[in-house]
Amino acid sequence: MHTTLTLRALASLTLPLTLSAQAAVLTVQPGTSVQAAVIQAKPGDTIRVMPGVYRETVFIDKENITLQGVVVNGQWPVMDGGGKLNDGILASGHRVTIQKLWVKGYKGNGIMTQGANNYKILDNYVDGGFYGIFPQFGKNGLIARNRITRVEDAGIYVGMSDNADIIANEAWGNVIGIEAENSRDVLIEGNYTHDNASGMTITLIPGLPVKDAARTWVRNNFIINNNGKNFAPPSSAAANTPSGTGVVLVAVKDTALEGNIITGNRSTAVLTTDHATFGMANDPKVDPFPANLAILDNHFADNGNKPAPGFNDLLKAAGVRRADLVATGKERDSCITYPESITSIGTKRWKTCEPGRTTSAIKTAMLPEPVQSPALTLEQKGRLTYLAVCTGCHAYNTQLHGPSMLAVKALYQGNPEGLAKFAANPTRKRKDFAEMPNQDYLGADVLKAVANYILNDLKN
Ligand code: HEC
Repeated sequence: MHTTLTLRALASLTLPLTLSAQAAVLTVQPGTSVQAAVIQAKPGDTIRVMPGVYRETVFIDKENITLQGVVVNGQWPVMDGGGKLNDGILASGHRVTIQKLWVKGYKGNGIMTQGANNYKILDNYVDGGFYGIFPQFGKNGLIARNRITRVEDAGIYVGMSDNADIIANEAWGNVIGIEAENSRDVLIEGNYTHDNASGMTITLIPGLPVKDAARTWVRNNFIINNNGKNFAPPSSAAANTPSGTGVVLVAVKDTALEGNIITGNRSTAVLTTDHATFGMANDPKVDPFPANLAILDNHFADNGNKPAPGFNDLLKAAGVRRADLVATGKERDSCITYPESITSIGTKRWKTCEPGRTTSAIKTAMLPEPVQSPALTLEQKGRLTYLAVCTGCHAYNTQLHGPSMLAVKALYQGNPEGLAKFAANPTRKRKDFAEMPNQDYLGADVLKAVANYILNDLKN
C-alpha cells in the first residue's frame, strides 16, 4: 500500500509539469518589452523576439525558457544597453536557450548565466561589455556559433563551470577571445579567435570557491594574429595577459592542444605559467603549477616574431630569438608530440608524447543526460547566488574587481541587513575601484540569504 501511495503522490506531482509542457510561443514586437514576455512565460515556452531595438535588461529566473531572436531580411532584434545598462541578459533558470540576439552597448555582461545548468547560448552577436558571453557556476552547457567583439575582458568567459562545449564561435577585437577559468571538462573546438590581445586563456585563479581547473581540450581552432592592445581595466585579472599570445595556460591540469592552426601571434603561440610567475596570490588550497599538458599535433607558423617586452629577457636567457612555446615557472608531466618541429623555451623537463596520442575519443564534454537541478531552500539559494553572482567580481582573500570578502566580512560583521542593502543599491565607496552594479533584481530575501552566507558560513 505504502508503495502505491508514494507512486500516486509522485504522479500527482508530475501532472502539473506534464500540463505545462504544452509549450506556448510568445512573440515580442518592437516597442514592447522582452522582460514582460519573460514574466508572462511558463516553463517550456518559447519567446520569439522580432527585429527592432530593445533597451532593457532581461532577467530569466524560470526554467526551460527559449529566448530566440527572429532575423528577417537581415534585420536583427537588438538588445541595446545604450552604454548605460550593466547587463543584457541574466539567466538563473535551468535549461534556458538564448539564441540569435544582437547584444550591444552593455557595460558589464552581454549574456550571463548564473548558477544555471543545461544552458544553450547559440548564434548571438555580442558587441562590447566587460564579458561577452559568461556562463558562471553551471553544469552542462553549449556555446556555439556566437560572434563576439570589443569586450574588455573575455569574449566568451566560462567561469567555475563543468561540462561545457564551446564550438564554432568567432571572437575578435577582445582582450581575450575565449577563456575558461576554474572549470572542468571543457571542449573548445572549431573556433576562430583572431585580433584579440590573446586568443585563448585557460586558467586557474586562486581565492575562488572552485579550487581546480582541469580536463580542457583545445582542438581544431584557428588562433590567428592575436596582437591587439590589452585594453582591460587595470583592476581586472585580464590586464596581466600579454598581448601577442595565441593560447595562455595558467596552472591548469590535464589539458591538451590538438589540431589547431596557430599563426601570426607576435609574442608566442603558447605560453604556460604557474601562479607565482604570473604574479598571482598564493592560495593554500590550490595547486599553483600546471600539470599534464599535452601539445599534440598542431600547425604553428609565424609566431613570436615581435614579442611583448616581458618575453625578451626569457628569450635572451635561452639564447633564442623567438619561440612557439614559452614554458615559464614550474610544471610537471607535460609532453609535446613533435618537440623538434617547434621552438620552445623552458621545456627541458617536458617529454615527447607517446606516439599516436590523440583526444579524438572525446566527442563532447557535455553530459549524456541533463543534470538534475533540485529546488533549493532560501539558505541554499544564498550560497548558490554568492557562487554564481558575487564571485564574478569578489574573491575570498584577494582583490578581484571588488574588495576581498575578508574585507567585506570585517566591514559588515553582525550586520547582514547592511550588506544586503549595499548590494541592492551600491554607492561609490572606493576611488580606485569601479562602481558595483546593483543586484536588486535578485530580490531582498535572496540578498539577505547571500549576506548571511558571506558573514556566517563563507570560508576559503
Ligand atoms: C560586476 C562586479 C561585481 C559583482 C557581480 C558584485 N560586486 Fe560587490 N563590489 C564590486 C566593486 C567594484 C566594489 C567596490 C565598490 C566601491 O568601493 O565603490 C564592490 C563592493 C562590495 C561591497 C563593499 C561595500 C562597502 O561598504 O565597502 C560589498 C559588501 C559587496 N560588494 C557585496 C557584493 C555581493 C553580496 C555581491 C553578489 C550579490 C556582489 N558584491 C557582486 C563589484 C561587484
